[in-house]
Amino acid sequence: MSGIGDAGLAALAHALDEAAPALPADARVALLNARAGAGLPRPGWRLEQDDAAVVARLRAAGLAVAAPDGAVAECDAAIVLAPRSRDLCRILLARAAALTAGGGRIVAVAGNQAGAGALRTDLTALAGPVSGLSKHRCRIVWSAPGAPRDAGLQARWAGLDVPVRIEGGWWSRPGLFAWDRIDAGSALLAAHLPADLAGAAADLGAGFGFLAVSLLRRCPGIGPVDLFEADRRALAPARRNLETLAPGREARLHWHDVTAGLPGRYRVIVSNPPFHAGDRADRPELGQAFIAAAAAALAPDGSLWLVANRHLPYEATLAARFRQVRTLVQAGGYKVLVAGDRR
Ligand SMILES: C[S@@+](CC[C@H](N)C(=O)[O-])C[C@H]1O[C@@H](n2cnc3c(N)ncnc32)[C@H](O)[C@@H]1O
Repeated sequence: MSGIGDAGLAALAHALDEAAPALPADARVALLNARAGAGLPRPGWRLEQDDAAVVARLRAAGLAVAAPDGAVAECDAAIVLAPRSRDLCRILLARAAALTAGGGRIVAVAGNQAGAGALRTDLTALAGPVSGLSKHRCRIVWSAPGAPRDAGLQARWAGLDVPVRIEGGWWSRPGLFAWDRIDAGSALLAAHLPADLAGAAADLGAGFGFLAVSLLRRCPGIGPVDLFEADRRALAPARRNLETLAPGREARLHWHDVTAGLPGRYRVIVSNPPFHAGDRADRPELGQAFIAAAAAALAPDGSLWLVANRHLPYEATLAARFRQVRTLVQAGGYKVLVAGDRR
């Protein structure tokens, strides 16, 4: 999910220190889409986060993350670090409203170029007139304490957070990567997977499972398949896709940060690696870390099947880890790369 970086956290810390909504030290505060930086979160805050990589970083910093059980703990304030997806942001605003139903404030932060205007509009629609300030190219907005909520809107936005069917009978979920369609790059890779691939396989950054399911459907000799995905919200639709589109085939879902390495050994790995972490800038090092994790987990005779935007610099990383690297196809701004004979 992601979205807010260090600048957003610094802007939030400034708003909490210098302006309303100043919070007393003992305030019960929930931080949604939580991350750490700029002295935040403060001790005792409830942290909610669905991204396994961010959860790992929070835990490494000694911070506890709330169990993802949807429990409603009454809070004096719920702070939303806005993700880029407006649907997901609305889901989190509805969650914040549930956590502050007793009259607490909703506070939300977005980058000026990353949905700040929409955030203000949405929070106003949900909880009435908002206050706000701008800092570090970010906007912080907050509702008045005790402001009445639009219960119908809150219910509608909370209701966005469920698996839904999209084209081709696939299950997906608002807020996932390319959630309302089959990604063109992934479709290109799936169409070029040879039917004779066989053995244990993994899908790195599996999303709602399109590549893993496509691999199972095209290749009768493939199995079991491990799907590794950092976004917990993707696991439910992925499970449904496996059950409905590849029934009877062996597959396991892992809520897992791929950059931390893989627990298994595989003959085949497929991936459409992530290439940014919420902000607009390309982060090729993420995809490069996926390649390193794949190389370390492949059997000596294994192969990696990767799709990427054409401009992303993965060839050198592949060449450093595999003796054989080739471009299988380029089309529509994507390239499909195949690597084998790992070093
Ligand atoms: C480009 S999308 C591909 C999704 C899916 N495989 C498809 O083809 O439609 C990359 C996926 O990697 C996931 N991801 C990002 N960082 C990750 C990490 N560190 N570990 C595991 N998955 C990650 C994202 O949540 C996203 O679902």
